[in-house]
Amino acid sequence: MIIALTGTPGTGKTSIASILNKKYEIETVHIHSFAKQEDIIEDFDVKRKSDIIDIEILNDKIIKNVNQDSLIVLDGHLSHLLSCPSKVIILRCNPLILETRLKAKEWNKEKIRENIEAEILDLIETEAVELHSMDNVVEIDTSNYSINEIAKIIYELVTSNFLDKAKYSPGTIDWSEMLLKDEFSWMVD
Ligand SMILES: Nc1ncnc2c1ncn2[C@@H]1O[C@H](COP(=O)(O)OP(=O)(O)O)[C@@H](O)[C@H]1O
Ligand SMILES: [Mg+2]
Repeated sequence: MIIALTGTPGTGKTSIASILNKKYEIETVHIHSFAKQEDIIEDFDVKRKSDIIDIEILNDKIIKNVNQDSLIVLDGHLSHLLSCPSKVIILRCNPLILETRLKAKEWNKEKIRENIEAEILDLIETEAVELHSMDNVVEIDTSNYSINEIAKIIYELVTSNFLDKAKYSPGTIDWSEMLLKDEFSWMVD
């Protein structure tokens, strides 16, 4: 079973994937490293300072490279755009916390704003539900949990065949009141 672990940059995907791999012995694939290794990075978006990857080629390469009979977690903010995952886990994070984390990455202001905006507007959730349906998508608010606690939640979800998924239904996390905060007034100006 292939599972997409997605979320706005800074929500903790790579930190949590690392625990899933080391502590819970789940095979994980870091999408960006995989794309580099397979030489399928098509271009570079200068404005966004990010690589451009063809999703269909990426999907084919993943299918060819992984054993779909075992449990594989795909770590990356593009993973929900692939058709190969049978379930999608979205990590969500309070935009105020996310902003601090993205600032620590020393990204430019525009890139930080673009990602904060994506988190507030539920962009990944909308894309994931559209592609994979409500039934196959869960989202976890990570704001008040440690990376170990979230890894445990994910481990329990994937090993129980998403028994508790109703608790993590898409649509339950709503950051829209953040638009009233001075920090994010640029979004409504
Ligand atoms: N739940 C959390 N609690 C505290 N810090 C976290 C949490 N999740 C992630 N972080 C921190 O946020 C930063 C970004 O995490 P990372 O795993 O690289 O996110 P992503 O892969 O989603 O971009 C790292 O410094 C990480 O330690
Ligand atoms: Mg990452």
